[in-house]
Amino acid sequence: MPIANAFLTPAQFDREYFYEMATASCPACHTFQIVDQPDPRQMFHEHYAFFTRSSKRMVAHFADYAVWVADQFLKEADPFVVEIGCNDGAMLENFAKRSIRHLGIEPSANVAAEAERHGVRTKVAFFGMQAAREVREGNGPADAIIAANVICHIPDINEIARGVGHLLADRGVFVFEEPYLGAMIEKGSYDQIYDEHVFIFSAHSVHNAFQPHGLELIDVVPQATHGGSMRYVLAKQGAYEPAPAVRQLLAREQELGLNDPATYDAFRERCERSRKALVGLVRSLRAEGKRVVGYAATSKSTTVLNYCGLGPADIEFISDTTPLKQGKFTPGTHIPVRPHEDFSANFPDYAVLFAWNHEAEIMEKETKFMDSGGKWIKFVPEVAVS
Ligand code: TYD
Repeated sequence: MPIANAFLTPAQFDREYFYEMATASCPACHTFQIVDQPDPRQMFHEHYAFFTRSSKRMVAHFADYAVWVADQFLKEADPFVVEIGCNDGAMLENFAKRSIRHLGIEPSANVAAEAERHGVRTKVAFFGMQAAREVREGNGPADAIIAANVICHIPDINEIARGVGHLLADRGVFVFEEPYLGAMIEKGSYDQIYDEHVFIFSAHSVHNAFQPHGLELIDVVPQATHGGSMRYVLAKQGAYEPAPAVRQLLAREQELGLNDPATYDAFRERCERSRKALVGLVRSLRAEGKRVVGYAATSKSTTVLNYCGLGPADIEFISDTTPLKQGKFTPGTHIPVRPHEDFSANFPDYAVLFAWNHEAEIMEKETKFMDSGGKWIKFVPEVAVS
């Protein structure tokens, strides 16, 4: 697999970086993860292509997330909030606006600069013990350390746990949300697996990863974002009484078979069936002379396209609203990425909905495509045309 967000120019085609994307589930600690992790510096740098603000609904979601954290946990005077991987500041901005002391720790300088433009204080760094020490020395302990779709990006989870343990105030909370393993297994959304998602977490794996570092899982809150996510709340051991939802989710994961190897064998077979169905559908439409384009050059689409072996002969182009991706080509499969205007100017017969997690937002704004007779190709939970 190539790096999911490494959109490239033709001059770079012959020196593209590939790695082996094999997944495994640990029978001892129940992490579901990719085995060989590419070097994080290949992914998070000054040309990082993902901007949180590309989805209006996600911006609204992060505003709600910020209010939820502030209302539940920031009751003391002059609280301090740290976000790990603040991207363009879509979440921290909500604290900045309320004049709450905050700091975003973000390794990708280009997105951090965007956060600064929105009044968010940032530090360009990877989060770990060293960053935690520097931040604590400069600002005191954090009352909340928050993150979204980031903790699963970091291969050295023990380093995160040590850093969080060092930076957190005694009654502080560590809150993060990520795509949820239970949702991936239920929906067959294998496209959640790509380089940035080193781990697809469950309550079991989060508990097992952080508990040895004295951090206790005190709450879990399911989220609809990213096709099914989970918000995890941790605190220093014994600081809070864990909510009943934690025990309930742990029990539910046993029922779902998340800790049973047979579940992953069945999942693999489902992925293979999905690939066969998607390739068969797209190629038969192309054989009939239909135009098929992709909608949104998501990170997830890199997994789908490379796993299925779909290229520019199958998919004419992918429409995407991110300027940094436009004019470039998809990693590994080299399908052109074009601005959304190219999609609206000449609607195709079919559009593969790569941003299926933003379906509601997209259906709301693409009524003209559907009125023109355009159809969507979906692949989660099953390959289907609608
Ligand atoms: P998302 O599913 O959040 O991305 P990822 O799989 O990378 O985590 O989708 C973000 C990408 O989708 C981004 O490149 C912008 C694009 N996009 C559109 O082009 N149009 C849209 O309406 C939406 C919601 C996203």
